[in-house]
Amino acid sequence: MCGIVAYIGRRQALPILIEGLKRLEYRGYDSAGAGTLSGPGLQVVKCIGRVAALEEAIERKGGLEGSVGIAHTRWATHGGVTDFNAHPHRDDAKQGHGIAIIHNGIIENYAALKTWLLEKGHVFESETDTEVLAHLIGELYEGDLEKAVQSALREVTGAYAIAAMCAKEPDVLVVARKGSPLMVGVGNGEYVVASDASAIVSHTTQAFTLADYTVARLTRESFRTTTVDNLPITAEVRELEIDLQEIELGGYDHFMLKEIHEQPRALRTSLKGRIDLRIGDVKLGGVGDIARQLARARRVVFVGQGTALHACMVGTYLMEELAKIPSDFDFASEFRYRNPIVEEGTVVVAVSQSGETADTLAALQEAKSRGATALGIVNVVGSSISRETDAGVYLRVGPEIGVASTKAFTGQVMVAAMLATFIGRRRFLSPDMVGHLLREMEAIPEKIERVLALNDHIRTATAKYIERENWLFLGRGVNYPVALEGALKLKEISYIHAEGMPAAEMKHGPIALIDSGMPVVFVATKNSQYEKVLSNIAEVRSRGGHVIAVATEGDEHIRTVAEDVFYVPDVTEMLQPLVTVVPLQLLAYHAAVMRGKDVDKPRNLAKSVTVE
Ligand code: UD1
Ligand code: GLU
Ligand code: MG
Repeated sequence: MCGIVAYIGRRQALPILIEGLKRLEYRGYDSAGAGTLSGPGLQVVKCIGRVAALEEAIERKGGLEGSVGIAHTRWATHGGVTDFNAHPHRDDAKQGHGIAIIHNGIIENYAALKTWLLEKGHVFESETDTEVLAHLIGELYEGDLEKAVQSALREVTGAYAIAAMCAKEPDVLVVARKGSPLMVGVGNGEYVVASDASAIVSHTTQAFTLADYTVARLTRESFRTTTVDNLPITAEVRELEIDLQEIELGGYDHFMLKEIHEQPRALRTSLKGRIDLRIGDVKLGGVGDIARQLARARRVVFVGQGTALHACMVGTYLMEELAKIPSDFDFASEFRYRNPIVEEGTVVVAVSQSGETADTLAALQEAKSRGATALGIVNVVGSSISRETDAGVYLRVGPEIGVASTKAFTGQVMVAAMLATFIGRRRFLSPDMVGHLLREMEAIPEKIERVLALNDHIRTATAKYIERENWLFLGRGVNYPVALEGALKLKEISYIHAEGMPAAEMKHGPIALIDSGMPVVFVATKNSQYEKVLSNIAEVRSRGGHVIAVATEGDEHIRTVAEDVFYVPDVTEMLQPLVTVVPLQLLAYHAAVMRGKDVDKPRNLAKSVTVE
């Protein structure tokens, strides 16, 4: 991570590169750079900060000419955030061949390679692993960039998406990947390469994804793909399914706000054709073939990170309640390293928006190697996780640009609900019970619309507490993950300290934090644990905390115990997270805006976390 754009064609590369970088900005980064090839040879400009700063730097240098170019946004892993460490990196300023590369990922064995190159007299300008790869390609270069890249990548361990060019071969662009995402857009006499489709669709909707260990050599006229061992492989060019509208702001101030508001439509699309009220069943094309295997599952383990982990937690409640299969969740990063027990009949479900989350991918591979059935709940079609899984269900919520995940969360919960119902129907659920659930699912989008109508009210309420530096979010049962998600949303975009936990846990320590005026957000909807939550609210009030409650429409009592109430429509208990999370998303959004934070590009965060 974080973003790559490269171009070869007949147009000036620079505007295409800059536009692409801006489309990828949402992925999060700390520096940017670009390089082009033209008459005078290789030119490179790079600097820390935003793409806008890069544009200014390029302007000061008098522009970048040429119809072949590479551009990069860096999320530093090796070496600090400095101009020198920004990409592109060259093979060697003095003795090199005029090779420049950009790289997303980590070259794990860079230290050994660097020692070897230093012995050969190479001089390095940066502290990055990437520059080592650039020098290695230069060292192995014998007049053919494609061959040099292949040879270099055979020596490398780790993850990479790279684009390389060489002043000695001004009509060639070479790109490759292993582990980090990379896609090649195929235009008319031109290619646009990028980390994801959003930087490609404004130029062409024909594209192919590179498989791991694949190298593509692009000229204006044609391309070929080979493995790093130089074996030819075919690339499947297909139509990209996103349209431009989905990745533009369309009148909203931020992508996050747009995506919060997109949830009703996104969930309708996710449900479309998948629930059949007539016969009381769920139709999931993606898992149809293994339905019998799933019905016989002995254990389901959901793995993910961040917001996706919260969806995993909801997934366990759904799977146990609806499918009656013992279920657990785990941080993918913990699961993979703790020698996990995978027995006959274990199904591992990897949950990820991008489908590229490094830890989740690795956990999935670990589970598979131990014999688990691997399912994916993923948004990005064709992503690494979706390809590694035996089967799965796509979210179909459209591209998510805001770093703080919103519609992907509700999409993941909805898919988990459909999956649990699908399996439950093949175990103990009667058609009647399924029919009830499906009607509830179908009504969710309209109910979320009603929650969205509270936007102004939520903003006003949030304003009252905006000076507060510590918040608690509490919930029980299926709304406990929602409390965690509410706290995560608030901290990740407004940098306010917030903690989420099961409401009952508060008494075991965190209650000591509560002092006069501390905002405590309760998910206190009508369900099996409502009375228990009321008791927890009383405990907070008696210590002076300010209670903000997400409650069920018509609950008048809650007004007498909470300073602020966000009413949501009544929903069957198991599906409540789909509506209760929405006011918390809006609360976090307004808090961040009021505090003047960059909502769509929070500091230190990246959209798709492709490093461990
Ligand atoms: C699919 C098509 C859709 C078409 C519909 C018609 C795709 C992306 N969508 O939708 O265009 O209109 O059929 O029947 O092909 N998968 C994984 N791992 C994952 C996610 C998905 O292996 O993490 C696999 C599924 O097992 C399935 C395929 O990808 O084979 C498509 O997934 P799914 O979400 O089920 O697509 P459909 O809703 O069936
Ligand atoms: N590891 C490389 C670096 O630190 C690439 C980071 C990235 O993917 O942006 O420069
Ligand atoms: Mg996230």
